Amino acid sequence: MAEPKKLFIKTYGCQMNVYDSERMSEALGASGYVTTARAEDADMILLNTCHIREKAAEKVYSELGRFKRLKAANPDLKIGVAGCVAQAEGEEIMRRQPMVDLVVGPQTYHRLPAMEAAVRQGHRAVDTDFPEEDKFEHLPKAPRAGRGPTAFLTVQEGCDKFCAFCVVPYTRGAEVSRPVTRILSEAEDLVARGVREITLLGQNVNAYHGEGSDGVWSLARLIRELAKLDGLARIRFTTSHPNDMDDDLIEAHGDEPKLMPYLHLPVQSGSDRILKAMNRKHTAEQYLKLIERLRTARPDLLLSGDFIVGFPGESEQDFEDTLSLVRAVGYGQAYSFKYSARPGTPAAEREGVADDVASERLYRLQALLSDQQRAAQDSMVGREVSVLLEKPGRLPGQKVGKSEYLHAVHVADQNLNIGDIARLRITESGPNSLAGEPI
Ligand code: SAH
Ligand code: SF4
Ligand code: F3S
Repeated sequence: MAEPKKLFIKTYGCQMNVYDSERMSEALGASGYVTTARAEDADMILLNTCHIREKAAEKVYSELGRFKRLKAANPDLKIGVAGCVAQAEGEEIMRRQPMVDLVVGPQTYHRLPAMEAAVRQGHRAVDTDFPEEDKFEHLPKAPRAGRGPTAFLTVQEGCDKFCAFCVVPYTRGAEVSRPVTRILSEAEDLVARGVREITLLGQNVNAYHGEGSDGVWSLARLIRELAKLDGLARIRFTTSHPNDMDDDLIEAHGDEPKLMPYLHLPVQSGSDRILKAMNRKHTAEQYLKLIERLRTARPDLLLSGDFIVGFPGESEQDFEDTLSLVRAVGYGQAYSFKYSARPGTPAAEREGVADDVASERLYRLQALLSDQQRAAQDSMVGREVSVLLEKPGRLPGQKVGKSEYLHAVHVADQNLNIGDIARLRITESGPNSLAGEPI
């Protein structure tokens, strides 16, 4: 039998790209590829890229530059670019980097086997369509092998919100929800393979409105149905838009025990003026009211968010409104970014904030957010948590996993196994993780 061809995939960007990379390796698995962790061994290198900020997009080109040497050593090596940079730039990538053989967007990677075959014939292949057919229905069934205890599952993709700064509606396309039955069968399959925690993914996951047995289902209804799966212990979802947080989903945080008490709910800014300029379609006050309702439903809910500083037109007062909102919410975790002008988005036409001003604001915001994160983590000491053990730790016998609140926790106990959900008492709060001991 011929030696299997080797595929090296490198993934940038969000969790959905992680999910897509798995699907792409399954698709190429059907063409005889096995994955390798070493680019040097590969017959095919795929970069699954992110276009969200300029830095993310530029990384792709510096990475490609590094593969030149590998291609010189192995003329049969094929190089492909997938993901959101592929969608945004298409053939332009091949003009800038002639050694690229294949460009495939996020909605057409079910066509990878045919593209790979064409590339092996010496052609170059570009496909950045938004096809009629559903790619998930045209992908090979995953091999029923065992896997780690956590998994992502895409339930919704694309976005119709058109925030003024964001490329996602252009790179991922219009908002589409997968039908309920498909999601349930994928979830059942994951559970059969040992998965105990599923994170439902969507660029706007709480706008989910998939076709169910009796009409359209909301995300809350989908979560309640998934929660009936024996063997599935935990459900999470990301990322949500504040305007799509409906009553049922808020209540589910209070009454669905398998739904974890952690919510990533980006607000971007605390200034109404900037929120309006961003086209977020809600005010700071409305966001704070929403947080209050969520905390009434689930008092220990740990909140996470995303922030952009230096958006065009942001004044010192606007920025201070963001700091006030952060103080009012108290985030357990958050991501913050300096605004990056993206070609084709409405905000890219507007005059930006000076870079040194934006940098200084980012620094102040990050200092506040990291204080809050530190306080939230330290406050866990002495408390009892449930930790889903995901992998071995650095020390012998040690295992690492995540608490309900998504804090990394490590524990040393020979009787615990990967995949167990351990009841632990937190004994220590380190720089990036907590330490626990069995109760
Ligand atoms: N709703 C999406 C958001 C994707 S982008 C999701 O499912 O994840 C993730 C975050 O990147 C955004 O919340 C925003 O804070 C940040 N971001 C998006 N576009 C940006 C830009 N042009 N400059 C800086 N940050 C940006
Ligand atoms: Fe981008 Fe806004 Fe859509 Fe999120 S909601 S993906 S930030 S356009
Ligand atoms: Fe990046 Fe595309 Fe995700 S731009 S954040 S990889 S949807």
